[in-house]
Amino acid sequence: MAPRLRQATAAGRSPSGAVNSNLPLASVTQIIMLGAMPAILSISNLSKTYATGFTALKSVDLEISKGEIFALLGPNGAGKTTLISIICGLTYPTTGTVTVDGFDIARDYRAARKQIGLVPQELKADAFETVRATVNLSRGLFGKPRDDARVEKVLRDLSLWDKRDSKIVTLSGGMKRRVMIAKALAHDPAVLFLDEPTAGVDVELRRDMWALVRQLREQGVTIILTTHYIEEAEEMADRVGVINRGELVLVEGKAELMRKLGKKQLTLQLQTPLNALPESLAAFPLELIKSGAELVYTYDVKQEHVGIADLIRRLGEAGVEFKDLQTHQSSLEDIFINLVNEPAQEISA
Ligand SMILES: Nc1ncnc2c1ncn2[C@@H]1O[C@H](COP(=O)(O)OP(=O)(O)O)[C@@H](O)[C@H]1O
Ligand SMILES: [Mg+2]
Repeated sequence: MAPRLRQATAAGRSPSGAVNSNLPLASVTQIIMLGAMPAILSISNLSKTYATGFTALKSVDLEISKGEIFALLGPNGAGKTTLISIICGLTYPTTGTVTVDGFDIARDYRAARKQIGLVPQELKADAFETVRATVNLSRGLFGKPRDDARVEKVLRDLSLWDKRDSKIVTLSGGMKRRVMIAKALAHDPAVLFLDEPTAGVDVELRRDMWALVRQLREQGVTIILTTHYIEEAEEMADRVGVINRGELVLVEGKAELMRKLGKKQLTLQLQTPLNALPESLAAFPLELIKSGAELVYTYDVKQEHVGIADLIRRLGEAGVEFKDLQTHQSSLEDIFINLVNEPAQEISA
């Protein structure tokens, strides 16, 4: 495994000092949607090309507001850990800027890093330290004064208090993960990153983890978790982002996604492919797919009048014939699979 621990100390990595001066429309919409909530994390035009020449992140823009639970969904290799590693100063971006509570991660590295707690995907801990010592040390690393009561609280919240004097090497995998979370929380971060927190953990730890995340949110902590379990995003998140091949392809509130879950689609296989939709059908939410061979009509199942009869009649009038049809109710899983299974476009040379 390649070592990825490098301290970001270089300043002035961003080509311009200005943050968010040229936001794409998607980000502008997000900011408007977030309303008056100040952004605790602001990512602008972030790209990463590794020394191998591989581009793991492509111009990512994202604003996270204070107190949100944000789930970053994506298949393996999508760039989730790369994104988190940049924010946490473990690797450099190739382009772009990140600010945490207003502190630029390159120019104000220490101040930015102090705001962040990270539970990494790969568990690393000092095996021969005791649980309590390693959590105390973690707090100290961020310049926080010793606070036994605070550390006790963190250990108790994570059911680690009984193990406080055990050496980490003697703990089970699940317990080690709890120690990593305790370490990440020891310095009272404003933003907590959980990179695949429940990958390969047992049901009990997963349940505890979800409870903990909710409890932390109540304390005002902003939480960003990566996962490839859609269920986890559905359960936990206020907003969901989908990342695929280094691109953030969707950012949406969970309520909005739930609204989409109520959508149904009617797909018609056409007798003859169409180049364009007939004018007379312009009022219908229709989409031509598969080079015009299929027509998709999306409607809301909760609506009383779904308009299918109307649509079929109009199709007949316009001379559009079909040989078969199906209906399909979409789930978040479908939305996700559609987004990440699109054929590779513009593989950069
Ligand atoms: N240090 C590195 N050098 C070169 N390529 C890397 C390095 N780290 C990650 N990658 C590549 O970048 C892509 C994204 O990796 P990663 O951010 O770990 O994805 P995820 O966390 O979404 O699974 C993968 O194709 C991975 O192989
Ligand atoms: Mg990862």
